[in-house]
Amino acid sequence: MSDLSDMSKLFRLDGKVALVTGSRGLGLHAATAFLKAGASKVILAARKAEGPQGLDQAVKRLNELPGVQGSAVGISANVATLDGIESLLKQIGEIVDRLDILVANAGTTWGGPFEPTPDWSSQKILDLNVRGVFNLVRLAVPLLEKSGSRSDPSRIVIVSSVAGTNVTHTGDHGTIMYSASKAAAHHLARNFAVELGPRNITSNAVAPGFFPTRLANGLIQELGGQEALERENPRLRLGVPDDIGGVMVFLCSRAGSYVNGEDIAVDGGARWKQGTNHKL
Ligand SMILES: NC(=O)c1ccc[n+]([C@@H]2O[C@H](COP(=O)([O-])OP(=O)(O)OC[C@H]3O[C@@H](n4cnc5c(N)ncnc54)[C@H](OP(=O)(O)O)[C@@H]3O)[C@@H](O)[C@H]2O)c1
Repeated sequence: MSDLSDMSKLFRLDGKVALVTGSRGLGLHAATAFLKAGASKVILAARKAEGPQGLDQAVKRLNELPGVQGSAVGISANVATLDGIESLLKQIGEIVDRLDILVANAGTTWGGPFEPTPDWSSQKILDLNVRGVFNLVRLAVPLLEKSGSRSDPSRIVIVSSVAGTNVTHTGDHGTIMYSASKAAAHHLARNFAVELGPRNITSNAVAPGFFPTRLANGLIQELGGQEALERENPRLRLGVPDDIGGVMVFLCSRAGSYVNGEDIAVDGGARWKQGTNHKL
């Protein structure tokens, strides 16, 4: 007989404290999944508090989830700047004394022709998707280290993109610097895995394909719309909230405690289908 321990707890996050950057789209899916899997607190961080896309409404929705014991709090912060990250972590330190999970999800993109690419667009992308992720992780390590143990390490999950391994969009709707930033995100996850593994913190990247969100919807339309992209996907659909929630809970629960330095694509297999973007 196998010594596999209690299966009912293998994918649970009971009592865990998580920080998720980005409060709509994929960040909201991850936060929802964490609370439903038993997390005691989920801290969401984004810049805008108010409005239909803002932090406050996301926190309200999370705190209204039925059958959930844990709670959500929101902190307005710009995680593309060092000041913003320092201020965020200071405020987190006033609410909790440790972090079990850090999801570096907030990201930005810019699409357009190769010539001309305005330099501000490259800076914006690198500041948030690369420097911001590096600095957030670096400064959050003391809080993560407080809760990680040999058998149950703290978890870092960086939300990258399949654009980090594939050349997804060139031409009129090119996203070259986004793609390069996501390749860097993959490599940050691998470097953190080796640097922080001995300190009881694992690090992995989740690489989504298309999920309808504010960030992706413009490009989805440019590429012919959701139905056209669904037809081209090997699973004949785009991503849905459970797809992100499932992989996040796996990586952050006991089930994922020995996975370190991986990038997991969540795209229905679309990255293996050559020629998908030949119309661009
Ligand atoms: N959706 C997709 O198809 C897809 C595919 C591949 C990868 N991804 C990746 O998934 C991640 C989430 O994207 P999404 O699709 O969920 O995008 P989204 O719906 O646009 O959400 C992005 C979130 O990040 C926050 N954010 C943006 N800049 C920020 C900053 N400087 N500081 C703090 N928060 C900031 C936004 O809030 P504020 O604007 O209020 O700050 C928002 O809550 C990104 O890293 C993206 O690259 C998405």
